[in-house]
Amino acid sequence: MSRLIVVSNRVTPPAPEGASSQGGLAMAISAALREYSGIWFGWSGQSTPQYNGQISVQRASGVTIATMDLEEQDIQEYYNGFANRTLWPLFHYRIDLTQYERSYGSGYARVNARFAEMLMPLIAPKDLIWVQDYHLIPLGRELRERGAKNAIGFFLHIPWPARELVATLPRHRQLVEAMFHYDVVGFHTEEWRDAFVSYVLHEAGGMQLSDGSLRAFGRTTRPQAFPIGIDAKGFSALTQSEAGMESYARMQESKAGRKMLLGVDRLDYSKGIEERFLAFERLLAESEELKRKIFLLQISTPTRGEVDAYQDMLARLDALSGRINGVTAEMDWIPIRSIHRIHTREELAGVYRAAEVALVTPLRDGMNLVAKEFVAAQDEEDPGVLVLSRFAGAAQQMKEALIVNPFSVEDVADAIRKALAMPLEERRSRWRALWDGVERDDIFAWRDSFVASLEAARDRTAKPRPGRIAGPRREG
Ligand code: G6P
Repeated sequence: MSRLIVVSNRVTPPAPEGASSQGGLAMAISAALREYSGIWFGWSGQSTPQYNGQISVQRASGVTIATMDLEEQDIQEYYNGFANRTLWPLFHYRIDLTQYERSYGSGYARVNARFAEMLMPLIAPKDLIWVQDYHLIPLGRELRERGAKNAIGFFLHIPWPARELVATLPRHRQLVEAMFHYDVVGFHTEEWRDAFVSYVLHEAGGMQLSDGSLRAFGRTTRPQAFPIGIDAKGFSALTQSEAGMESYARMQESKAGRKMLLGVDRLDYSKGIEERFLAFERLLAESEELKRKIFLLQISTPTRGEVDAYQDMLARLDALSGRINGVTAEMDWIPIRSIHRIHTREELAGVYRAAEVALVTPLRDGMNLVAKEFVAAQDEEDPGVLVLSRFAGAAQQMKEALIVNPFSVEDVADAIRKALAMPLEERRSRWRALWDGVERDDIFAWRDSFVASLEAARDRTAKPRPGRIAGPRREG
């Protein structure tokens, strides 16, 4: 079996087997690396006064972790700059928040080159290389330029936007050209994949071959959809852990017979938390009878605190929940409980299980794993209802949720009313269908299908068989 090298901006050291402090993605990557006796390479999250080309290597739970520090200027221009002030907002359709600074672009190029420089000595000829997310789009090209002949795949964890948006990015062709140095480029959904294909056909003058691969910039790559999942059984089991049961019991007590609506998100403007609060306010204004009988618990984890758009959002969110509570609360009832703190996965599993309704209403989201975790944590005899934004990648798979337009407070308020009134039989049948999908398309299926595609690419390169040219695909 080939060795696997996973590269991501951040590296989360693996927890001992069975422990659950890692996020879902980190756990799947650790599991893949254990199986393929691989290496996980990325930024340590630390800064160094001067880039020194040093890698720190540690072995944990059968996985080799290799990390490098970055200079402060690199962190500002590459991570806070191009990754999180340019690509993130643009790819989430927030052109109003997107900043186009030349220094960000050059920092992004410089850090990707450094990643390649550091990684090259660790690569053996038969290794499979799997690059993760928007921070590292040019890494494949940088590795090729340094002579890597390996099968290299790339997976984008965020949406690929409409080509008109991509075209607002200075040097967008250069960014897309970089994608063609990968053998496989993966997206969460067919929608994001098709948006990429559309850019290549219409902006880059590329063509699609009969086997689905794309040819442009004198190179060929294969765009594919690989919907990411969670460790469904593992997450479900967390509800029965000691900490999971304790947080469930605490929530039940604190609910005092009221029904709980729940939001769990990174504190990010793409998650639609403000719009969710406004929809909740509308619901309370329209349905007086629900007052005192329901509340919204919003758990938001602070993130990217050095980026102004995140600081602004935090201030706005606090002001908004303060205003709604100030106007609506009663002496013994607070409509919105808003918490900005990190919780363990066990605690979250218990809270999900105690919720009657989950509000997963991002304005745009690559996939959204909270929707899947909520389903995995439910009691099948008495499951809660998932309200899900049509603009989350998850909506393409989770069709039995109540699908909403998060931009419409009326639409979301209606869905909450419907969820609260839903008969037990309907809750059970919707949940069963959702769980079947979450269990089948889990994180291990995602990992295995991507690795299989990378192996196929490696085998094709060993025995090249050119695809027939089909010409540009027509779009409906
Ligand atoms: C998203 C991205 C990930 C990123 C995560 C947390 O899910 O797709 O690549 O790691 O957010 O963001 P952070 O900036 O804290 O790493």
